[in-house]
Amino acid sequence: MIKTLSVIGAGIMGHGIAHAAIVAGYDTTLYDPAEAALVKGRSQIEGIVNKGIELGKVTTAEGGKALARLTTTEDLKSAVGGADFIVEAAPERIDLKLRLLAEIEKFAPASAVIASNTSSLSLTEMAAALSSPGRLAGMHFFNPVHKMKLVEIVRALESTPETLHAIDDVAKKMGKETVLVRDSAGFVTSRVNAMIGNEAFFMLQEGVASARDIDKALKLGLNHPMGPFELVDLVGLDTRLSVLKFLHKSLGEKYRPCPLLVQHVKAGRLGRKVGKGVYEY
Ligand SMILES: NC(=O)c1ccc[n+]([C@@H]2O[C@H](COP(=O)([O-])OP(=O)(O)OC[C@H]3O[C@@H](n4cnc5c(N)ncnc54)[C@H](O)[C@@H]3O)[C@@H](O)[C@H]2O)c1
Repeated sequence: MIKTLSVIGAGIMGHGIAHAAIVAGYDTTLYDPAEAALVKGRSQIEGIVNKGIELGKVTTAEGGKALARLTTTEDLKSAVGGADFIVEAAPERIDLKLRLLAEIEKFAPASAVIASNTSSLSLTEMAAALSSPGRLAGMHFFNPVHKMKLVEIVRALESTPETLHAIDDVAKKMGKETVLVRDSAGFVTSRVNAMIGNEAFFMLQEGVASARDIDKALKLGLNHPMGPFELVDLVGLDTRLSVLKFLHKSLGEKYRPCPLLVQHVKAGRLGRKVGKGVYEY
């Protein structure tokens, strides 16, 4: 029975996952090596809880109880020492994750499940950093976690059925829907999303329609909540390009990044974070 949860990394995803965990009733420890990230993460979690109270989604008492389940720490050993379930949400770098996972395994109870929120890296490679690889699988949340319903569960080569079941159970307690995906480049979501975004750039390059009209067509004609250019401006064009390069290398020619996207990145048009991408902000 999973009672205590540990979230590793308090950034964009980590704070959202910790919020989902405390609301689901888990005693949750949020770890980050940077104190500033923990302070910011806690304040963002409080912000989401308070917004929920304001909107009448939770009572003040429920919100208070949820926040009381949250502990933050800069000490990895104490973060995972008593955890039944660990979600890794550290930066998307394989070298960092491999080192971190080996450390986590050293301090965590032998029975703890280890889930990684990676959006692209190989879960099988990560599992190989552990002496018990069967205890690891992917638990891919979406941004912002408190609004997005899906968790993609990614089965590494050696993930055990018990590990996959535990991840499914925790995701459902957090109010999420799950899909099961074999460890493969881009899983389901990043692969399709990169393909749509790349095709949108090819259409813009060919002069099929304006960026505004391509976005409008997908929103109103295909019921996408955001247009592909609005979305890539949010995600970051550099991030999208690196995903496409990875898919191109792993899956072949149909993922070759559109030259217009490459040009935008070279021009420094990286999206909202720098004030200009496909659109100006
Ligand atoms: N941002 C997204 O939309 C999104 C969506 C799904 C999955 N992901 C994945 O989630 C993971 C985290 O991404 P993010 O966007 O939250 O990143 P982020 O940069 O916002 O947060 C990462 C956090 O990890 C901390 N950190 C640095 N070194 C660490 C270490 N050794 N151990 C633990 N924590 C460390 C940083 O201080 C930072 O607070 C990545 O694997 C990413 O691919 C991101």
